[in-house]
Parts: sequence; structure tokens; C-alpha cells
Amino acid sequence: MSLNRFFRTKHKRKARVKTNIEIIKDRSIPRHVSIIMDGNGRWAEKRGLPRSTGHRQGVEIMRDIIETSGELGIEYLTLYAFSTENWKRPKNEIKAIMSLLVEYLVRELKTLHKNNVKIATIGDISLLPDKAYKEIKKAVKLTKDNTGLQVNVALNYGGRLEMVKAVREISQKVATKELNIEDIDEELISDHLYTCGMPDPDLLIRTGGDVRISNFLLYQIAYTELWFSDATVYWPDFTSEHYLEAISDFQNRQRRYGGVIVEEED
Ligand code: IPE
Ligand code: IPE
Ligand code: MG
Repeated sequence: MSLNRFFRTKHKRKARVKTNIEIIKDRSIPRHVSIIMDGNGRWAEKRGLPRSTGHRQGVEIMRDIIETSGELGIEYLTLYAFSTENWKRPKNEIKAIMSLLVEYLVRELKTLHKNNVKIATIGDISLLPDKAYKEIKKAVKLTKDNTGLQVNVALNYGGRLEMVKAVREISQKVATKELNIEDIDEELISDHLYTCGMPDPDLLIRTGGDVRISNFLLYQIAYTELWFSDATVYWPDFTSEHYLEAISDFQNRQRRYGGVIVEEED
């Protein structure tokens, strides 16, 4: 493709995304979107590249999706970046993921802050390497009063571990009589999860073709709408167009929450 044609195509694509954003914004926008960003390794392997190249490309995609989420007026975007099970991976892959995260924060923090994005984390970040921990803390601190899109980065996150944490905290409060057993209800449990104070995700997206949850937000997704990409779309292939397709699909669904939709009488 000639360079001119490349830029024309890119420009057309941007214009198309802009038009679609306007259409989608006219309908109900999910307040909270969560994404299992899967397939970085396979994307790279398919090209004969090291897995770390896939992770690098994946970080670039994160930037685009954060930008589009802001334009759509989504309130919360929760991104699964590293699970409690991902420590099983080779040391050099873990190192690459962590240093890419640091690199991304160092490079993008100013812009994110300027765009009123609030960075938060879910998961036990105290176990991350020192440098990553410090950069994340810095980003969270700098952006804590921002009022735009909140991006929750799930790091050393596991849904089961989150429940263990909640049970421990609640039990402690019962033991010290701060709470009675009768006080324990669904809301109280929600309040002891990392996502305390946030609405449950309306939409969960997973790229890469696998149809599973992999220990993500187990309690919170009870009534979340699920959207799985087909196997040809690894996370580094995921464009704003795919994202808008998922949201548009969500907008066409009927959420019943176990009830029935009653037609209004005239
Ligand atoms: C997701 O991509 C990123 C992380 C889990 C950190 P993967 O690295 O899982 O890529 P695949 O699924 O092996 O292709
Ligand atoms: C889920 O992907 C975790 C992240 C995207 C961070 P995995 O690649 O770890 O999940 P499995 O192994 O396919 O279930
Ligand atoms: Mg994977």
C-alpha cells in the first residue's frame, strides 16, 4: 500500500469511528465496561515474534480503547492486565509485562491526567515488582480527584482471592462486634470487594476467541452482558471498530434480570 493510500485509509477509518460513536451515543451507554484483554501471546507467535512484542502491541491498543471509552462517556472501564494465575508464566514474560506497564504509565500519565482520567487498581498490587508498584501508586495519587472516565487496572487480580479478602474482612468485623451476622447481605459483600462503590459491569468483553471468565470479577458479573470476539481477533487486533460493534450489540439486548418485560398499556 502506498503511503498516501495508507493515510487516506487511516483517515477514513477515523471518520467512520467518529460517525459510529455519534450513533452509539444516542442510545444507552453502558456505565461500566470490563475487558479481558486476551491473545497477546498468540498474536505474536502467529508472526514468529516473541510474546513480549504481543504485550507491547497490546499496551498500544489499551490506549485507543481508553480514548474511545472517554469519548463515549463510559464511567468505568476495568481492564484485566495480570491475573493471580499469571505468575505461573516464565519469569522473563512476567518481567516484560511489568516493565511495559511502567513504560506506558511514564509515557501516558500526563495525557491521561489532562484528559481527566482517573486511574485506579483492583487486585493485590503490593506483590508487584517495586518499580511497577511505585509508578502505579504515583498514577493513582495524581489522578485521584479526576472526574472523567475511571480506568481500573486489574493487577494481580483474581475473583476468588477477592472473595477470600471480603470474607476475611467481614469475619474480622463480626469477631470484633463491629458487625452482626444479620448485617451480612449482598450489598455488604459488594462493599468489601475491590470494586466497592462502583456499579457492576454492564458489559464484559473478551478478545482472543476463548469463551471463559478466567477468574475475573466473579461476584460482580452476575447480570453482566457477555461479548466474546471471534478467534481471529486477538487483543492487539482489537480496534475501536470492534469495540463499538460490541457496544452496539449490547445496546440491542434485552436485560431482564430474571423478571419479565411488561409492555406499557395505553
Ligand atoms: C493476555 O494475553 C495478556 C496477559 C495475560 C498478561 P496472553 O499473554 O494471555 O496471550 P495468549 O492468550 O497466550 O495468546
Ligand atoms: C486472562 O487471560 C488474564 C488476562 C487477560 C490478564 P489468561 O490468558 O491468563 O487466561 P487463560 O489462561 O486463557 O484462562
Ligand atoms: Mg491468554
